Amino acid sequence: MKILVVGGGGREHAIIRALKKNPQCSDIWCAPGNGGISYDAHCVDIKATDLEKMVEFAAAEKFDYVVVAQDDPLALGMVDALAEKGIPAFGPNKAAARIEASKVFSKNLMKKYGIPTADYETFDDPAKAMEYILARGKYPVVIKADGLALGKGVLICEDEAAARDGLKEIMEDKKFGDSGNHVVVEEFLTGPEVSVLSFADGKTLKPMVSSMDHKRALDNDQGLNTGGMGTVAPNPYYTPQVAQRCMEEIFLPTMAAMEAEGCPFKGCLYFGLMLTPDGPKVIEYNCRFGDPETQVVLPLLESDLFTIMQACTNGTLADTPVEFSQGAAACVILASGGYPLSYPKGKEITGLTKGQLEGSDVTVYHAGTALKEGTLITSGGRVLGVTATADTLPKALELAYAASEKIHFEGAHKRTDIGRRALKALEK
Ligand code: AMP
Ligand code: GLY
Repeated sequence: MKILVVGGGGREHAIIRALKKNPQCSDIWCAPGNGGISYDAHCVDIKATDLEKMVEFAAAEKFDYVVVAQDDPLALGMVDALAEKGIPAFGPNKAAARIEASKVFSKNLMKKYGIPTADYETFDDPAKAMEYILARGKYPVVIKADGLALGKGVLICEDEAAARDGLKEIMEDKKFGDSGNHVVVEEFLTGPEVSVLSFADGKTLKPMVSSMDHKRALDNDQGLNTGGMGTVAPNPYYTPQVAQRCMEEIFLPTMAAMEAEGCPFKGCLYFGLMLTPDGPKVIEYNCRFGDPETQVVLPLLESDLFTIMQACTNGTLADTPVEFSQGAAACVILASGGYPLSYPKGKEITGLTKGQLEGSDVTVYHAGTALKEGTLITSGGRVLGVTATADTLPKALELAYAASEKIHFEGAHKRTDIGRRALKALEK
């Protein structure tokens, strides 16, 4: 089977590694991929957002299956365009990808179908948005740009002045581009956050093992929001009782809502949940695997990923087993100094042989690496995701941290408290 994975980060690396466990997946390609991924797949330098070129390439090279892993090509309709060429793909079509690509769409969907989420209103006029914030008079208040803003289009405003500044930044200064033409103003929720990725075939949904992301750049959840500095799975706050409630109140209603709206969801549906004192609520949906959640979720998948992905495409997920091991996984991100603001690139990475730690069971997923004349160098903000699995979370964390000490590049930064909150929850 000739398979193309679209994207080029740690998530795509984890997907490729999981696909490779199936001997059928003998010929894996990745576009654009990265330095470390090139040890596991043929990388082709096509931008994930270059829809036309990608589809042309997939057709010319006669791929049997394409996995569109990244959000923007999904939002642009890459799965639809591939289908027109007769190429089956994993991921939602353009209409279904709106569940992530438009916060206005997803919030209205939740309101219409009674799916628990933060109270909100949507606005396209900054003055009206401010009037609403003043009338509610509750702080902090959350302001979200409508479109894809790489997880950065969310402002938590502590007071009136911050809300005014926030609206100006998003709607007038267009800090997040056109995604700021519309905003969602919503209630600030509290509680532990849980990420639940699920497989979906349009009708059936099967959740994966839960996970916990660590979004802030610095220890103790300080510093700026990032794409994610580390993850653990499973998430101890996600008890069987919570899981059942989420299935009944959130997961199944979301699948039914998407079907009723004429855009059944196929692919990986990601639920970003907050376990509030009033029960679990949706913070956000993503229309794709999370990054770095995938790096801890897929290593625990015992069933065959390729079989499941095809079942999602073909609508046969109900008959396809999705089993996870009882163990735990931890991923520690090594980032470039300065991330998520500006950071240097091109730093030599040492400690790895062909991208991995020699003689170790720990896997190094590459996010921002490149090969320059055979030498691995940094090329992004998040550089590597060092991931260990073990019977227990403490053991997985110990293994991942010990392994991360063996890898070096100038200015490398990691959080030292990944999983600490999860461990505390386990002690209770
Ligand atoms: P999002 O891009 O929607 O996932 O938001 C990024 C982060 O902002 C989330 O992971 C939360 O930590 C936080 N956040 C978003 N919406 C809310 C909310 N309504 N209440 C509290 N925190 C929120
Ligand atoms: N880790 C959060 C995301 O993938 O959006």
